[in-house]
Amino acid sequence: MNVTALPIKAPAKLNLALNIVGRRTDGYHLLDSLFAFCGLADELHFSTSKDLTLGISGPWASQITDATDNLVLRAAHLLRNNAGIRAGVAIHLTKHIPVAAGLGGGSADAAATLRGLNQFWNLNLADEQLFLLAAPLGADVPACLASQPVLATGIGDVLKPLSPLPACGLLLVNPRVATPTPAVFRAFTKANPVIAPHSLVSLEQTFPDLDGLVAALALRGNDLLDAAVSVTPVIATVLAALSAAPGCRYAHLSGSGATCFGLFSTQQEAGEAAAILGREKPDWWSWTGKWAA
Ligand code: C5P
Repeated sequence: MNVTALPIKAPAKLNLALNIVGRRTDGYHLLDSLFAFCGLADELHFSTSKDLTLGISGPWASQITDATDNLVLRAAHLLRNNAGIRAGVAIHLTKHIPVAAGLGGGSADAAATLRGLNQFWNLNLADEQLFLLAAPLGADVPACLASQPVLATGIGDVLKPLSPLPACGLLLVNPRVATPTPAVFRAFTKANPVIAPHSLVSLEQTFPDLDGLVAALALRGNDLLDAAVSVTPVIATVLAALSAAPGCRYAHLSGSGATCFGLFSTQQEAGEAAAILGREKPDWWSWTGKWAA
């Protein structure tokens, strides 16, 4: 039986900075964003099957209401059609990344499906070919294929790799309110019918330490914050609590939310802040760790 030896990891994406610099005629927004990836990851297993099937388990599985329209299946069908093969595969997804949370979980799963099935079906497609398949699956999927720090422009699909980011402790907090990306972009468009041209401090540099990274991020922020708060008001409470946590060096919203991230000097400090927040807000989800390996 053909089974991938190890699970393929699909690391969660963080937008450490996200600025909107324009809007295309098709409604998609032009971004300037620093994407980073964390140790939090979904896992995919592939095993031989006559049909192409998807099973889902894990702490966030119940949030996926329509598995037939899952990006994993769309990625698998796309790759299979593109390669001109008829093979099936049984895919199992273990969902550790919150759903509709600004962490690119679905995009990460789609990217991991492309990588995993390229291996499982021995297709030997080059990275460039996988990137071409990734783009139509969603704006974040190409960045998730890379799963390393990148500066993203275009609609999030034009990528410049960055040096590894300085080591730090990460704390992610989500109030368990699904916040669909299209709703946040709609709210943004309503509040910003015109996007005036503006210049941004460049993030195309090496950050030798956390001080430098935090100073640069503070000049950029996340332009979707107000729109995300208008869709999911509790985000403002999450961000205030995280910013006020002892040892938090920088906190902001990831993507269209509702997850907020905090950067700490050490993982221990991030863990201590998580424990305090967990006592104050036991219903919120949180995760501590470091960047994806
Ligand atoms: O591409 P993806 O499916 O992740 O995007 C979800 C929605 O977010 C799009 O339908 C669009 O409304 C919005 N979006 C956008 N500009 C981007 C990325 C996403 O307007 N660059």
